[in-house]
Amino acid sequence: MTTAIPAVAPDVIHAPSQQTQWWRTAVIYQVYPRSFADSDGDGYGDIPGITSRLDHLVDLGVDALWLSPFYRSPQRDGGYDVTDYRAIDPLFGSLDDADTLITAAHARGLRVIVDLVPNHTSSDHAWFQAALAAPAGSPERDLYMFRDGRGDDGGQPPNNWDSVLGSSAWTRIMEADGKPGQWYLHLFDESQPDLNWKHPQVRAEMEDILRFWLRRGVDGFRVDVAHGLIKQDGLPDWGGRVEMVGGADGNVGGDDAPSVADGRQDGDDAPSGSEIGNLPSDTIPALPVLDIDAPAAHPNPMFDQEEVHDIYRAWRRVLDEFDPPGEQVTRAMVAEAWVEPESRLARYQRADEMQQAFNFGFLVTTWDAAAYRQVITESLAACDLVGAPATWVLSNHDVVRHPSRFGLPTPGARPNGIYAHDPQPDEALGLRRGRAATLFMLALPGSAYLYNGEELGLPEHTFLPDDVRQAPEFFRTGGAEAGRDGCRVPLVWEAERPGFGFSPTGVTWLPQPAAWACYAADRQRGVEGSTLEMYKSALRLRRQYGLGGGGLRWLSGYPIQVLHFEVFDASGTAVTVLANLGGESVALPDGYDVLLASGSLPDGGGLPADTTVWLRCGH
Ligand code: NOJ
Repeated sequence: MTTAIPAVAPDVIHAPSQQTQWWRTAVIYQVYPRSFADSDGDGYGDIPGITSRLDHLVDLGVDALWLSPFYRSPQRDGGYDVTDYRAIDPLFGSLDDADTLITAAHARGLRVIVDLVPNHTSSDHAWFQAALAAPAGSPERDLYMFRDGRGDDGGQPPNNWDSVLGSSAWTRIMEADGKPGQWYLHLFDESQPDLNWKHPQVRAEMEDILRFWLRRGVDGFRVDVAHGLIKQDGLPDWGGRVEMVGGADGNVGGDDAPSVADGRQDGDDAPSGSEIGNLPSDTIPALPVLDIDAPAAHPNPMFDQEEVHDIYRAWRRVLDEFDPPGEQVTRAMVAEAWVEPESRLARYQRADEMQQAFNFGFLVTTWDAAAYRQVITESLAACDLVGAPATWVLSNHDVVRHPSRFGLPTPGARPNGIYAHDPQPDEALGLRRGRAATLFMLALPGSAYLYNGEELGLPEHTFLPDDVRQAPEFFRTGGAEAGRDGCRVPLVWEAERPGFGFSPTGVTWLPQPAAWACYAADRQRGVEGSTLEMYKSALRLRRQYGLGGGGLRWLSGYPIQVLHFEVFDASGTAVTVLANLGGESVALPDGYDVLLASGSLPDGGGLPADTTVWLRCGH
């Protein structure tokens, strides 16, 4: 065990917030509808299932839920391929069911955010079907990104872009005369044609869709591929490959572009794990000089074009129509935008645009305290530039669940799914680290996102048979990528019931490992030290001490691999956080009481490896 040195050189990097809008501090729980709870026994989760389990979310203590898409869709990309934005897919229920869910959530004090998928529709969408039936150059085609091919016979795609989900971003269609004709752009699956966001009809339609859902009472939107709507004029060739998970769903790519897969941002000089031992013990990142007008770290003609911001300014005006005059902003948008550097991402959160953007820089950070210090410092500083809250997220429906990522031989690596023949995560170590990461994340000022099942400590399913896989990238890469199904396995509610209580018939659209009985909610509820109880305690204490609106000060005095900070309110009252990402136990400071720990603490004192504690000064 190393000895704690008294804290010196406190370094405030973020002041307590004076603002009180709910979305500045909210903990928002992502429901992946097909995997949360099934009411009708068909093996797919549905909206009545979500409504029936709302009390779990109340008990957990979250502020809001974000629903991944439930719209009418052929489900070729888990509902991110929408046929009708104003209808619910029969798989999930009806509009009445959605209304009931929104009302029931509100009655419990939970806000509701729905997913909006503006970059592309489904190829089954009436607009796209009309475009296929219409000739080249028609107004119908102009709603999408149709182009003539290259080469004498137009047989080559219009440019060299690859789809984020693998293989070409272009598909050639058959014209009405039965001959091969134009090509259409799809940054994702070929069943997801990109809309032409330069077209006023597209803009008007999506604003109308926003109003449709706002009138039904939703509190905001998660905006899918928010950085992708506008492409660079002329659609120039670009040599990079964008990966959603192994690299990034956006801005990173090109042969010479650094990957963010190792958690480093461009220009980040944080030490690597192997350098850790050589650094002074009290290294605290200086507040970075950030420039909101800095160019993109990895310019890419598919993403993060200036004109996207006009779209969000217009949407913001639509949201603001629904706030009673004189009231604070109550409807919110969060951008799914894989954009670097942090200051560039902050542009999506300017006062007249969205309120939040997902912090994927935090999500991709590897198990390295120095890298976490860097990304936390930069995130808070970048958001402060625009007066927006920072957000924090470790898991979602697109990435390997974070306990499994942290249990990999390279902790924090981001494979796009894990096969049974791949190096396997160490489940116990991963859970230990996953809980430690969650606990330091939930102390951070700003808003935090939880992905359904993480409160149970669920790992990734790493031995799904190929014949049950549904994620399109598995097919588009010819199986080179296992894909995202492993993080979408139906939740486990009751250990003794068929399908672990997910569905009344026990049918589940993806198989649940039998060993997951130990993760079932009913095995954890009320059990001291369980992951579920840790999450509940963390959310209760976070609210009690106002951590979401707090200031943050880095503290020193511990080895570099220990995160040491305090989150304080305007009166200076603080919660101190110690997260030991190193391999050795460290001493806890004298005079502090332990509020909460992510793992058991030895009787003799000390903070073991891979453990986080929240402390309060006892005197
Ligand atoms: C991001 C979503 O999170 C992902 O699931 C989807 O495949 C792509 N956007 C395309 O809509």
